[in-house]
Amino acid sequence: MGPYSYKITGGHPLKGTVNISGSKNAVLGVLAASMMIDGECTLENVPDISDVHVMIELCRTLGASIVVDKSEEGSLILKIDPRSINTYKATGPAVSKIRASYYLLGALLARSGKASLRMPGGCNFGQRPIDLHLKAFAQMGARGARPEDINGGIITLSADPLKGARVFLDIVSVGATINVMLAATKAQGMTTINNAAKEPHIVDVANFLNAMGARIKGAGTDTIRIQGVPVLPGNFSYSIIPDQIEAGTYMIAAAVTDGDVTINNLIPTHMEPLSSKMREMGYTIEENEDNDSIRVYREKDVEILGTNIKTSPYPGFPTDLQPQAVVLLCLAKGMSKMHENVWQNRFQYVPELTRMGASINCFDRVALVSGIDSFKGATVTATDLRAGAALVCAALAANGTSYINHAGKIDRGYENIVQKLRSLGAEIDRVDDAVYYEQDAEA
Ligand code: EPZ
Repeated sequence: MGPYSYKITGGHPLKGTVNISGSKNAVLGVLAASMMIDGECTLENVPDISDVHVMIELCRTLGASIVVDKSEEGSLILKIDPRSINTYKATGPAVSKIRASYYLLGALLARSGKASLRMPGGCNFGQRPIDLHLKAFAQMGARGARPEDINGGIITLSADPLKGARVFLDIVSVGATINVMLAATKAQGMTTINNAAKEPHIVDVANFLNAMGARIKGAGTDTIRIQGVPVLPGNFSYSIIPDQIEAGTYMIAAAVTDGDVTINNLIPTHMEPLSSKMREMGYTIEENEDNDSIRVYREKDVEILGTNIKTSPYPGFPTDLQPQAVVLLCLAKGMSKMHENVWQNRFQYVPELTRMGASINCFDRVALVSGIDSFKGATVTATDLRAGAALVCAALAANGTSYINHAGKIDRGYENIVQKLRSLGAEIDRVDDAVYYEQDAEA
């Protein structure tokens, strides 16, 4: 399958209801965790997205058995049995396709006392070191974790035995928090993670590990305690939490098209950092009584005003909604400011938005956004997953037709985005690269 584009004709207010899928960043950690089970498990509400398929392949390459089924709603159901794993090496080229392959380091180290991994890939927005992961593994007794031990892009760790340790993360890191939780689950003794990340998917991975038989307390706070256990019996079913970032993207898509959308199957408290900013800007955000859906719309004659947003670890404003939120700020009155506080270089999509009519000036980690009346259709490129999602939001709101090339990057994290948006009244099609290049030549 070659590269493909999304063709979007904007200007249709999104209307109706949409269901949110399982969380990408939770399921990637959970899949790695499942490689440690001394039995079987069933995973439900697994999003049918390309990053999940890459992770399934990586686990199968280790020797694990994963049977994939599809539910009536379109999510995946996975029956996992890792007892047939016959290697500690995850060094094939697929490892570099996704970032979350680094979770196999923690999981394999815990499983067999040894782990070998090719350096992971993922979206490119500046340096993405894994020094915190490696420093923590070294504290737990792993050899091979010094930067100079990385050989030809391959890290090989061994521990005999892996021991509990007091780990302090000097930067709040989602990946390091999950990786240390995985390794500590089967280490000898107690591990404490201080300054741990608190994202909803940290809690989901911890809940999954506890369902496997782990003894983890404090996930969701900045101190997590893990008492190592020798055996993880498994034999249970687990359903992945809804995707906070997918939900936020649909909230923003509803808002920028001046639509009225009810977003189902989300956890409203996870959306609070976005909901409160959107309310401040003038949008109406209604949570239903059952606490599992949010309706987004603008009251007649209410003016949408710009604001300032700073990304930070949960419960701060999520960096993974930063590009989409900038689209929201573009269509608000006056000046707004977006401060990217997590990643070094996450404004690569700004030149693309500018081609659609945005007025944005970037200085280092700050984007100054001047409100515009509307976007215009253009041919643009998705530089990464959330950048692509932002371009989709802008194209849905734009006058005219846009082509978003490298749309495969969007499908890494959004299940059935074309069908979901169409059901809300959007005009969106997937077109192959030939059409894209023809259009690009005309543009
Ligand atoms: C996770 O990446 C997510 N990916 C990212 O989502 C998300 O942007 C990020 O967390 C922050 O929320 C997955 O869960 C697969 P970090 P991760 O470790 O774990 C620095 C998406 O769009 N750092 O929390 O790699 C790092 O440079 C993706 O779905 C170190 O310095 O992020 C960054 O500035 C993109 N050394 C900060 O910490 C380390 O060893 C936070 O990174 C690790 C991180």
